[in-house]
Amino acid sequence: MPGKKEETRYRVEALGKQHNRSGFTCGSEPLDTYLRVQAGQDARKRVAATCVLCEGENNTVIGFYTLSALSVDIGAWPEHVAKKLPRYPVVPATLLGRQAIDRQLQGKGAGEHLLMDALHRSWQASRQVASVAVVVDAKDSRAVEFYTHYDFTPFVDPPIRLFLPMSVIEQLFA
Ligand SMILES: CC(C)(COP(=O)(O)OP(=O)(O)OC[C@H]1O[C@@H](n2cnc3c(N)ncnc32)[C@H](O)[C@@H]1OP(=O)(O)O)[C@@H](O)C(=O)NCCC(=O)NCCS
Repeated sequence: MPGKKEETRYRVEALGKQHNRSGFTCGSEPLDTYLRVQAGQDARKRVAATCVLCEGENNTVIGFYTLSALSVDIGAWPEHVAKKLPRYPVVPATLLGRQAIDRQLQGKGAGEHLLMDALHRSWQASRQVASVAVVVDAKDSRAVEFYTHYDFTPFVDPPIRLFLPMSVIEQLFA
């Protein structure tokens, strides 16, 4: 799997009042609007936590992702994964619901940096509150390709939802 490149000029932190997100444009209007309008409210209501990517000392947001807790029906997992899980009706996972990089920065490694941060944060959290995988909802086929580049596996239904087992993520960071 690619990943773990050093990009020291970037910092990733929880979205706060100090961050300027008004000019953020990633090429997907729903994602831009989410960051500008909805992200703060979702964080306050504790339905999704947003982390933002900034560069150096600058507080302008150049990327973001959201994490939430998720329950996945046992029947949704591919057979080779399900057979290793206890037969509970649902199992816990971590949802990487949204991820985006500002257009001006796309293709320069920032998306990988942000994804590695999300995986690292998810793995660390899973040591306190268990989670069997990070699940992503890709917004289109290009996003599916981005995540499969990092070894995410599509669910059978819907195939636009993919997962990476926490055991695999642990091998990246442990
Ligand atoms: C998808 C997105 C987050 C990727 O970020 P990025 O900064 O452009 O990606 P990077 O430059 O870090 O690319 C990292 C690696 O992924 C690969 N990659 C990037 N986009 C890819 C794609 N669509 N399909 C396959 N591989 C892709 C790159 O080639 C690179 O691989 P390499 O290091 O082996 O050469 C960004 O393009 C984006 O914000 N798109 C719009 C919103 C979106 O689609 N979000 C996704 C989920 S909802």
